[in-house]
Amino acid sequence: MLQETETITTQTQTAPNFYVGNIPIYGDTLLAPMDGYSDWPFRSLCKMLGSAMSYTEFVPVERIVLAKVKKPIDKLYYEPAERPVTFQIYGDDPDMILEGALRIRDLGPDIIDINMGCPAKGVAQRGAGVGMMMTPLKIARTFKMLTAKLDIPVTGKMRLGWENFRSYKMVARIVEENGGALIALHGRTKEQSYSGLANWDAVAEIKSYVKIPVIGSGDIRKVEDIARMRQYSGCDAVMVGRGAIANPWIFSGLDRDQVPPAEVKRVVQEHLRRNIEFYGLENGHRLFRKHAVQYFVLRSLSREDRKRILQAQPSAEFIQLVESITNALA
Ligand SMILES: Cc1cc2nc3c(=O)[nH]c(=O)nc-3n(C[C@H](O)[C@H](O)[C@H](O)COP(=O)(O)O)c2cc1C
Repeated sequence: MLQETETITTQTQTAPNFYVGNIPIYGDTLLAPMDGYSDWPFRSLCKMLGSAMSYTEFVPVERIVLAKVKKPIDKLYYEPAERPVTFQIYGDDPDMILEGALRIRDLGPDIIDINMGCPAKGVAQRGAGVGMMMTPLKIARTFKMLTAKLDIPVTGKMRLGWENFRSYKMVARIVEENGGALIALHGRTKEQSYSGLANWDAVAEIKSYVKIPVIGSGDIRKVEDIARMRQYSGCDAVMVGRGAIANPWIFSGLDRDQVPPAEVKRVVQEHLRRNIEFYGLENGHRLFRKHAVQYFVLRSLSREDRKRILQAQPSAEFIQLVESITNALA
């Protein structure tokens, strides 16, 4: 465990763990893309703490292609320190996906990823997200076009498929055969959504089935789970989703109960600062609440403090509240 006064920094590694196309990836653990969570403030913080690469939240291609106002899309904002940066997009029409991908290429991502895993009704039912896994030919067409027209690697993140059509093996092969440079697999079906145990056997299956790198996703909660999933499945890296929300220090090799209070205070305050910088004062605070509750939930947060975090309205009051809770930890 770290001493109170130590600050967590990431180690520099000389040899890459694997390559996505020509992009070297240093490290084997990264923050999973999470809509509403893996925004710039949190993503950049996780990268600082040791996440091997950055995935944006998913962005619908319609928003990119049909946007009337040509203003930059917040969700695709990044800073160089975050590289390698993967932009994740989704859609149900290969031509529109291609057009969207070509447009955001100019923003300088290292990799473009196609979401084939989102189970939300409005996404899956129209054939996007995990809906794509029902139409393997559409996936083939999408990857074929994107890998032919883009000069950066194109990757895919998927689920097992649907309960009555678990197409993950077929889709993995299709992605690889059509030029895809990496597959990330969340070991649950559409119907499972986020419940039940993630199937790591499927991660192992995919890893032995394709030659391109494979990232496993699902149920990484503790530091020991990282090596456990890698050994069990042979995957090249693991993604940490919900486990990273309460414990971004997992990217520094620490479980939550090993993180000294002074470090919690430093990161919580830095996260809030980045939120305000990115979203402005009001929204920065509002969007920080859900993180604040998670940061403190495993420690000394009383029911009353939890309520106060979620309810405090004025910005100044909220800052004071976060400060008083973090000060009490230290
Ligand atoms: C709130 C939330 C939002 C998510 N948004 C995305 C997303 O935008 N793109 C994506 O590929 N996966 C998304 N996922 C799935 C995660 O990337 C990950 O595969 C899944 O949560 C399983 O990992 P975990 O058990 O470590 O949470 C999301 C998951 C959660 C919980």
